[in-house]
Amino acid sequence: MASPRGAHRRASVAALLLALSCCFCCRAGARADPSSSGEPKAVPAVIVFGDSTVDTGNNNGIGTILKSDFPPYGRDMAGGAKPTGRFCNGRLPPDFISEALGLPPLVPAYLDPAYGIQDFAQGVCFASAGTGLDNKTAGVLSVIPLWKEVEYFKEYKRRLRRHVGRATARRIVSDALYVVSIGTNDFLENYFLLVTGRFAEFTVGEFEDFLVAQAEWFLGQIHALGARRVTFAGLSPIGCLPLERTLNALRGGCVEEYNQVARDYNAKVLDMLRRVMAARPGLKVAYIDVYKNMLDLITNPSTLGLENVEEGCCATGKVEMSYLCNDKSPHTCQDADKYFFWDSFHPTQKVNQFFAKKTLDLCYQELL
Ligand SMILES: *[C@@H]1O[C@H](CO)[C@@H](O)[C@H](O)[C@H]1NC(C)=O
Repeated sequence: MASPRGAHRRASVAALLLALSCCFCCRAGARADPSSSGEPKAVPAVIVFGDSTVDTGNNNGIGTILKSDFPPYGRDMAGGAKPTGRFCNGRLPPDFISEALGLPPLVPAYLDPAYGIQDFAQGVCFASAGTGLDNKTAGVLSVIPLWKEVEYFKEYKRRLRRHVGRATARRIVSDALYVVSIGTNDFLENYFLLVTGRFAEFTVGEFEDFLVAQAEWFLGQIHALGARRVTFAGLSPIGCLPLERTLNALRGGCVEEYNQVARDYNAKVLDMLRRVMAARPGLKVAYIDVYKNMLDLITNPSTLGLENVEEGCCATGKVEMSYLCNDKSPHTCQDADKYFFWDSFHPTQKVNQFFAKKTLDLCYQELL
């Protein structure tokens, strides 16, 4: 009976990890003046970095077990079921944000061979499910580390210059909306799983500081490469994800210890963002309070017509994600719109749309 929660967690993981967090921000195109049709849009592209909360399919083509390009993932996509590698029954927040800004309804994954630079000129996603701010997080399930997402962004800029010319490429990169959502896996797939040794190297507070320093490095990188309008998501109440609730079954409910870590980390992120903006005039970063957005919904699910905020729709909803969430389960729910979670780690399309709306509202207020 010793340390049952930790033991279960270590034992059960392997396939089950990823990210949650969510959300973002932005600002629409020619909002003020409808007669300005000939002018460039205020937001020419949505450019995405991060983990599974925003990965639109990059993991499909890499050697990881962390995938979702099979049914029932994508089952509620507009126009018919289509598994795309999004960890959702439908679309992710960046897709809804892009559409609301007058851009395409899906943000293509950079590694998806079905898309080319002409598509990416209006939006591109470098995110990879399972990755984190810590290099070692990406190593756990062999996904794309954040530094590599930045390298892809550099390559993208070179391709964009060849495609549209130097001046237009510069305008796209500087006026784009950058959506960044990352961090959950650093705790749930790395630190608390004890698989990388970070738990022995750092106290949890020191690890938070280390991650925030990585986030600061990342923001400096993309700013130096031309980004000016950025939304940065804080952590959700990560102890309330169905998988964490399941592993906490002996005590019941959300893992308060994890939620406390999320709140501490978020406060440090907010301090860092203020510092970064003060040091880098021209860079605006909107902090997306995913913690509050998610807790509001969990506390008042009926505002969005939700009936279940504790289990995923897919399979039993208690542990399944990636390959464990598949067509074989007889338990998968009929109406995912009644659920907060699609699988044991990721929100439904309904909730993603809500997060996107929250983000857009904030962006109209803050970013521009
Ligand atoms: C992460 O890995 C990259 C590539 O190897 C390296 O350049 C970078 O310094 C690493 N970051 C840290 C904090 O170790």
